[in-house]
Amino acid sequence: MDTVGSAVECRNLLDNARATGRTVGLVPTMGALHAGHISLIRRARSECDVVVVSIFVNPLQFGDPEDIAQYPRTIEHDLAACAEAGVDVVFAPKVTEMYPAWPAPVPTTVSVSGISDGWEGSSRPGHFDGVATVVTKLFSIAGPARAYFGEKDYQQLAVVRRLAADLSLAIDVVGCATVREADGLALSSRNVRLSPQERRAAAVLSRALTAGHAAIQRGVLAASMVSAIMRDVVALEPLVHLDYAVAVGVDDLVEREDLVDPASVRLLIAAEVGPVRLIDNCPAGTAMRPAPEAVPAPPARLLERIG
Ligand code: PAJ
Repeated sequence: MDTVGSAVECRNLLDNARATGRTVGLVPTMGALHAGHISLIRRARSECDVVVVSIFVNPLQFGDPEDIAQYPRTIEHDLAACAEAGVDVVFAPKVTEMYPAWPAPVPTTVSVSGISDGWEGSSRPGHFDGVATVVTKLFSIAGPARAYFGEKDYQQLAVVRRLAADLSLAIDVVGCATVREADGLALSSRNVRLSPQERRAAAVLSRALTAGHAAIQRGVLAASMVSAIMRDVVALEPLVHLDYAVAVGVDDLVEREDLVDPASVRLLIAAEVGPVRLIDNCPAGTAMRPAPEAVPAPPARLLERIG
C-alpha cells in the first residue's frame, strides 16, 4: 500500500494505473474509519482494479471550530484498516496541500445551489460548499474513476451526484447502503462522543424511520402524517432533540405531501443528541434491511463446529 500526502504523487500513481488499463475506485473519507467506511472500500475493491482512499478532515466543511477540534483522528488505526481491506493507495494530505493559503479564505469554491440549501444545508450554513469543493478537488486529483459514497449522508450523495453531472466530471458516483449497529443506529465517526445513555437514546432515530416506513407500507400516504408519526417516536426520548423528520423526493430532496409513489420518496431525519448532531434516512418504497456488514459474525466456536 502506498501512502502519499502529495496530490501530484497521488495523480501520477493513478495515471500510471490507468495507462496499463486498470480502473480506479476512489473512497473519500475524513478518517476515523469504521465498518461503514470499510463497506465502501470493499465495494470499490470488488469493482475496481486500484482502490484509493482519501483521508482528510476538510476544514472547509466545518462551521463550528469546536466541531473540527473534536473530530476523531485515528490515522494509525485507519492505515492498518486500509491495508487489511486491500487498499492500494491512501491519499492523506496536509491542510496546506489542499488549501495552500489556509487559514486565509479559499478563493475558488464549488457551490451546488438548490439541493444544498435545505435540511443539513440550512442547519450547517456553508457545509455543502465545503464538501462540494473538497470532493471536486479529490475528483480532479484522482482522474477518471468510480467514486463511492454512503447513502448514510443522503443529501451529500445527492450534492455529489449533481456536481459530477453538472461539471461533466469523468466520475461514476456509486451510492452504498448504510451500515448499522444491531439496534439500528447508523455507524458514524461522531457516535464515540455519545455518553452511554445518549448512545442508547440515539437508536430512536432509526426506530422513527422504521415507524415512518411501516406507516407508508400500511397505506399512510400523507407526508404530514408520516412526519407526525416519526416525531411522536422521537418524543419518547427526552435526550434526543429533533431537528427534522420529513418525506422528500429521492432526487430533488423537496418535501412532498403526496406519497402515492413511495419508490420516489426518501425519509430524512436529523437530531441533536447531547453534543452530537446525528442524521439518518431510509427509502420509503422498499423493505429496510440491515446491510450485511451489520449482521454480527457467528462466534468463532460456531464456525469451528460448522467447519
Ligand atoms: P466521512 O464522514 O468520513 O464519510 C466518508 C464516507 O463514508 C461518506 O460517503 C459517508 O456517507 C460514508 N459513511 C459514513 N457512515 C456510513 C455508514 N454507516 N454506512 C455507509 N457509509 C457510511 O462524508 C465525509 O466523510 C466527507 O463529507 C467527505 C465526503 C469525505 C468530504 O470531506
